[in-house]
Amino acid sequence: MPIYKDSFQSKLPEIPTSIFSIMSTLATQQNALNLSQGFPDFESDAKLIKLVNKAMVNGKNQYAPMPGIFSLREQIAQKTESLYGVSYNPDTEITITAGATQAIFTVIAATIKKDDEVIIFKPAYDCYEPTIELFGGKPIAVQLNPEEFSINWTAINELISDKTRMIIVNTPHNPSGRVLSKNDMLQLEALLKNTNILLLSDEVYEHIIFDGEKHQSAALYPALVERTFIVASFGKTFHNTGWKMGYCIAPAELTKEFRKVHQFNVFSANHPTQVALAEYLKTPSKYLELGDFYQQKRDLFLSLIKDSRFEFKPSKGTYFQLLNFKNITNESDYDFAVRLTKEQKIASIPISVFNENKYDSKVLRFCFAKTDETLIKAAKILCNI
Ligand SMILES: Cc1ncc(COP(=O)(O)O)c(C=O)c1O
Repeated sequence: MPIYKDSFQSKLPEIPTSIFSIMSTLATQQNALNLSQGFPDFESDAKLIKLVNKAMVNGKNQYAPMPGIFSLREQIAQKTESLYGVSYNPDTEITITAGATQAIFTVIAATIKKDDEVIIFKPAYDCYEPTIELFGGKPIAVQLNPEEFSINWTAINELISDKTRMIIVNTPHNPSGRVLSKNDMLQLEALLKNTNILLLSDEVYEHIIFDGEKHQSAALYPALVERTFIVASFGKTFHNTGWKMGYCIAPAELTKEFRKVHQFNVFSANHPTQVALAEYLKTPSKYLELGDFYQQKRDLFLSLIKDSRFEFKPSKGTYFQLLNFKNITNESDYDFAVRLTKEQKIASIPISVFNENKYDSKVLRFCFAKTDETLIKAAKILCNI
């Protein structure tokens, strides 16, 4: 291929290939159990697949309306009201997106200008930082402590300046499985009250929460609702991450700005899937039982590895479990993850890649959205290390 000769300056010069692609490719090459990337190794409900098929057969194969089909937005409004007691207008406050990643990109594109500061918490999901940078913003990264992953809100208060435009929170949190408490949310609310700082609340694991905890959606806090974009993912909730379906809810003024970008970013999301989801959401048990479903998987996995040399605190939400390997080796988490994939045939994610300055706390992330059979095989391997 001829080389492009003009001086070409990358907008993201520091971005390497995503660790998810690296570890999943290695897992395939090595024929290893893949507990690295966050997706289930079991099928989505056959009923939902049938509904998508039916929508296709019924001709729902052309563009959906730009904000998404009304019946799906209506179902999301009802679900949000019944869970969090706040009523979002499906016409003006709910937009269907091509997964949560597109929603996050669109929120940032619509709101962040050059030199705006955005506070994020590390370890952080990998799309936040580069997206902020693409639009000239400055990520202000706060490294969470590696034991509790708790947030010191007083310290956050000190980081706030007249340049702070947004804070991004993620609960339940990938990769740690930490969930924000009511007290966290009240402190965040107090911090943001009387400022014009926006909140991006990444709630893709809202239904995957354990041990009787209640998900602390930003929607529960009035002084947050007025400034918050909440993003959600059907892929995480209904075991079909490959469909890339999600949504963004925000007050009308914010949604207006969101849609200005959304219409040129993607215009509209997959139509037959929207028709199917609108029908499927009429059965709330499909998402209300998700926490119990994954708690059983977490408990199975942890009971099987309790005598291994890995140390852990049970995940409180998400379908990820962190395992500390400091009793096993001094290798870097990256090297150890690669070696485990090659030699022991089990793939994980080294969490230094999500940390500020690649801080290595000797911890790997394992995804337990897997069949019991896969989890039993994985545990056997981990117990022999
Ligand atoms: C915290 C977090 N946010 C957003 C996403 C992206 O969700 P989606 O697959 O719907 O784009 C993920 C996926 O892993 C995630 O873990």
